[in-house]
Amino acid sequence: MTNAAPQRPHRTGLRQAELDPTRGKHVSTPWGSFALYVVDGEVLCAQAFCPHMDGPLFEGTLTQGANGEVSIVCPWHMWRYDVRTGKRIDLAGLLDRRCLTRLAATIDQDGTILLAPCT
Ligand code: FES
Repeated sequence: MTNAAPQRPHRTGLRQAELDPTRGKHVSTPWGSFALYVVDGEVLCAQAFCPHMDGPLFEGTLTQGANGEVSIVCPWHMWRYDVRTGKRIDLAGLLDRRCLTRLAATIDQDGTILLAPCT
């Protein structure tokens, strides 16, 4: 995220119905590359590329655990992140605390997904 990035919401041009519930949808924003996910009717947004070595995290598989945890696994080296919190949640993550940057997603009156920095 750069200091020059706007703080007002960014219109993605996408609607929730266009999202695949099993994987991320890559979107370019004023704050960089992010991925949209839809989980139980809620749109979530986290950085598209992995903090480890920039793997295409948005191409990973989205899974929901019995405890409600929603995770995305990087297809390159299998680091696993909680999409809701951005925290790394695989076992090795106990030593490496890199997290995903997230954006807040809302739905505009016309159904378009809007993104903004988390407050
Ligand atoms: S690039 Fe994602 S785990 Fe290595």
